[in-house]
Amino acid sequence: MDITSGTRKIIVAIDGPAASGKSTTARLLAKKLGYTYIDTGAMYRSVTLKALEAGLLEHLHDHPDDAASLLEDIGIAFDGERVLLDGRDVTGAIRDNRVSRHVSFVSSLKPVRDALKQMQRVMGERRGVVMDGRDIGTVVFPDAELKIFLVADASERANRRYAELIQKSGGCNNIPSVEELEQEILLRDRSDAERTHAPLKKHRDAVEVDTSGLTIDEQVALVYNLALEKTAV
Ligand code: DC
Repeated sequence: MDITSGTRKIIVAIDGPAASGKSTTARLLAKKLGYTYIDTGAMYRSVTLKALEAGLLEHLHDHPDDAASLLEDIGIAFDGERVLLDGRDVTGAIRDNRVSRHVSFVSSLKPVRDALKQMQRVMGERRGVVMDGRDIGTVVFPDAELKIFLVADASERANRRYAELIQKSGGCNNIPSVEELEQEILLRDRSDAERTHAPLKKHRDAVEVDTSGLTIDEQVALVYNLALEKTAV
């Protein structure tokens, strides 16, 4: 607790389906609060990229426990907006559509979830973090002081993902159409919600925020005000 300023550091957990506005809201909220932003989707994407590069994806379908070998000495770090996998900048590569197509499968594997959950708990142990994902409020930090569940219409989410891909692709040019993205998002929603380990669901204490039709500024202001209520002592 920071007694001098009359505020305490908290954990803000932001969960919700793909492209519901989590990462934009979480990043801007973290900036306003002076907190660290942790994009856990980027961590699952990094493991997926590593599995693809190792040529292990097919093998993992039959031998899910072998995912442990990928995770033994994996290094995933955030440097501002950049994501580093084993010291290499993979910020653009993890947004590639090949990674997006396989990330739901990789993130359904228990060894992957267990390893990343541990890493995320260490990253947030001193509080003062905004973490976004699918299971942050339910599994990683069920004691997070503020839990948000963001939702939005599928078509709006596809349009947002398209804009994000254009911006973040870092030169990768195999960007799918908005219609393809909407199908992919719906498919991913289903597998994220139906998987056995840590399925996407709203924690009973989470505040549901529908971002359809809201501007980014409105989303951030709404969540920022909720955070201020929780940080005041
Ligand atoms: O937020 P995103 O689209 O970058 O997430 C990529 C995938 O990672 C998503 O399909 C589900 C998975 N994921 C997860 O299972 N748990 C998290 N905490 C974050 C992401």
